[in-house]
Amino acid sequence: MPSHVKLFIPGPTEVRADVLAEMARPLISHRGAEMAALHRGVTEQAAAIMFTSHPVLLSTSSATGLMEGGIRNAVERRVLSLVCGAFSERWHRIALDCGKEADAVSVPWGQAIRPEEVDARLASGKYDALTVAHNETSTGVANPLAGIAQVMKKYPDVAFMVDTVSSLGGMPLKVDEMGIDLCLASVQKALALPPGFSIASVSPKIIDRSRRAKGKGFYFDFARMVDKAAQGQSIITPSVSHMFAMRKQFEHILAEGMERRWARHAQMARLTRAWAKERFALFADEAHASDTLTCISNTRGAGISELIAALRSEGMLIGNGYGDLKEKAFRIAHLGELTPTDVGELLAAIDRHLGVSR
Ligand SMILES: Cc1ncc(COP(=O)(O)O)c(C=O)c1O
Repeated sequence: MPSHVKLFIPGPTEVRADVLAEMARPLISHRGAEMAALHRGVTEQAAAIMFTSHPVLLSTSSATGLMEGGIRNAVERRVLSLVCGAFSERWHRIALDCGKEADAVSVPWGQAIRPEEVDARLASGKYDALTVAHNETSTGVANPLAGIAQVMKKYPDVAFMVDTVSSLGGMPLKVDEMGIDLCLASVQKALALPPGFSIASVSPKIIDRSRRAKGKGFYFDFARMVDKAAQGQSIITPSVSHMFAMRKQFEHILAEGMERRWARHAQMARLTRAWAKERFALFADEAHASDTLTCISNTRGAGISELIAALRSEGMLIGNGYGDLKEKAFRIAHLGELTPTDVGELLAAIDRHLGVSR
């Protein structure tokens, strides 16, 4: 077995050595001036990455916790979830599990949500919140967020809640320009940090609703988190080690520049898609194919588990199809700190295993 297996799965992903080293720093008190400076610095960096002036919450949980928080804090009447795969379905599931009035509008896996459909549903006036996954990691579909954001401008009373778990840091996204009320993401995908931490921007609409909300619980009480963050603190004992690592990684991300980072992801996606179309077929509708991962239909009937095992023995890991798509499709993530050179090496290795000459 190689000493390091390079991750081409849709998170966790490769983490820079100097960022990993930050996780091993001696700890500091989670109260006091040193922590306040760290907390403020990281939230400012996160706001720059998200293009927002809204407060940013740092959560010692993965993003699923913040998805649940969004539902508990911001849904007063009824929530509509746009479902195009397993993760967008999860947000609907959470709403039901939290006892909220909730509906889903679904499209077949591989397709994207149409903004016109969103408009038609919201025109009913039944909803005060909408959930959408920017990038559906189970299918490799990027929803047309700019188009949906345009529709949302017609519905200022509907909280616009966006899961950017597998897009933030890898695909164009501007929170304030798009009028996003809650933008949440885990850090283990295009932000390229160790898993177990997540961030979210919260608009005044979300904070106001949170202040009124009953039964929102303590851990994900957004208003309480915002108030505490204003003092450079968390309401709980946070993963300080993650915050050291975030400070370092966010420096790298901002030094690269968001436009350049998005362009690098787009280039890796183009390479992967061109290869996938020659050898197999894209699972996602190409017009809405993601820049952070590609889901590939197994049109050759290849043994995907065997392929994964063979690649792993060479030091590379790709993902099988998600859920029912296992063996019928496979996923190559091209996100975070990976480069077009890494992707080229992976594709060449897959070709070798398929017996395809280049
Ligand atoms: C689009 C999307 N949303 C939500 C999640 C859940 O994130 P986590 O497992 O970090 O809570 C994932 C995880 O892969 C995801 O890809």
